[in-house]
Amino acid sequence: MGNNEGYAFATWTSFIEESQIRALLKYNVKYYFAGGKPGIVPTGVFAKIMADLSERYKKDPAMALDDLNYGPTAGQPYFLKTLAERLCRVRGLPIDCETQWERVCITNGSQQAIYALLDTLIDPGDVIVTPSPSYLGFLVPAVKLGARVITVPTDLDGIMPEYVDKAIRVSEEKFGKTPDMVYVVPESDNPKGTTLPWKRRQSLFDICESHKILILEDAAYAEIQFKKTPKPIKSLDKENERVAYLGTTSKEAAVLRVGYSVLPDSVKEQVMKDKGYLDLCTSSFVQRILDEYYRKYIDEAMRVAVPKYKERCAAMAKAIDADFPAGERTDPTGGFFIWWRSEKRDFDSSEFMQRVAIPNDVMYVPGGPFYPISGFRLTDDGTDLVASVPEPNTMRLGFSFEEPKLIAEGIGRLGKLLSKEL
Ligand SMILES: Cc1ncc(COP(=O)(O)O)c(C=O)c1O
Repeated sequence: MGNNEGYAFATWTSFIEESQIRALLKYNVKYYFAGGKPGIVPTGVFAKIMADLSERYKKDPAMALDDLNYGPTAGQPYFLKTLAERLCRVRGLPIDCETQWERVCITNGSQQAIYALLDTLIDPGDVIVTPSPSYLGFLVPAVKLGARVITVPTDLDGIMPEYVDKAIRVSEEKFGKTPDMVYVVPESDNPKGTTLPWKRRQSLFDICESHKILILEDAAYAEIQFKKTPKPIKSLDKENERVAYLGTTSKEAAVLRVGYSVLPDSVKEQVMKDKGYLDLCTSSFVQRILDEYYRKYIDEAMRVAVPKYKERCAAMAKAIDADFPAGERTDPTGGFFIWWRSEKRDFDSSEFMQRVAIPNDVMYVPGGPFYPISGFRLTDDGTDLVASVPEPNTMRLGFSFEEPKLIAEGIGRLGKLLSKEL
């Protein structure tokens, strides 16, 4: 390996490591609490959709030819209309699904939307504000593209808007720049699992509105909610100017690599320009499958899946409380993850995972990668910036993939190993 062939790689390759999530996908363990893999996928529904489609294609080769072909970069109109209807009826987004469905656009996973948004809005040196900790799939591309990331404190309700306000002021003082973007996962954040209350959503919107900053509202877990959640921040954005709303089919349908977004018009135009060069378009065949799912099956599938995820979450929380050593955990009301922090500040959850957890058949994601590899942290008094450092005594525990019984066993095992160590 290495660079023996003499290629001169781009600079970013020397400071960006392989995605931790991607690296962890290659391990095979009995108790898998690592990546955000959905464990409850309506496979029977997708089998039926594909069988029905197979019949339709035999009868209608023109339809088959269309579905097995290139399509519009922003997505197939029939699918965008279906998504617009759900976004408006179920999520409360302020779009008229009859006349404004073209505001919806799709990408290959919401990961591509994140990347393309950063790619089109960020020049090296631009400033982005994120919660601390934050989704690594956002942080790493942001750093790769040269953004200055400022992380602000979070509590058990998520990001604290007063610190966002302070971070904006500090950014203006220190860098002479207003941030370009604030990134949040309002429902069941990745990695902490916290949900932003309505008052904070409103404050965040008002702050960003007054400074003309784009909010990236990543609603990856919006459909996997165990109780009613506040309306999206996007619901406040009546003019479609301030909020880029990102959804994904991955958690609520199947991992078919389709994300859907509602972006301010000018942003959408640039992001779709970028997507045109990244992949030309998303698979039309996959859009057809998903269109069937969203039109006919999703409500029933969610009625089945959400209570099961809730059981898994409860099993994990109970086992942590019973078997883990001193520390604190979050108490999610949806999503896929619980975040745990050891009381011992010098505990290194990454080293422990390689040395102890994986050999004992247990895997989680160490907390480190959820802090930017280079960037800034707002000080606790909100007046200054210091270098961002990871909190190595933390871990993200995913409850989405395993059955409650295995979760109880595996978390029990991990708890005993941790107790022995600490
Ligand atoms: C918060 C968040 N955003 C975005 C993504 C990317 O999802 P996808 O690319 O599968 O749509 C994930 C995946 O885990 C996530 O947790």
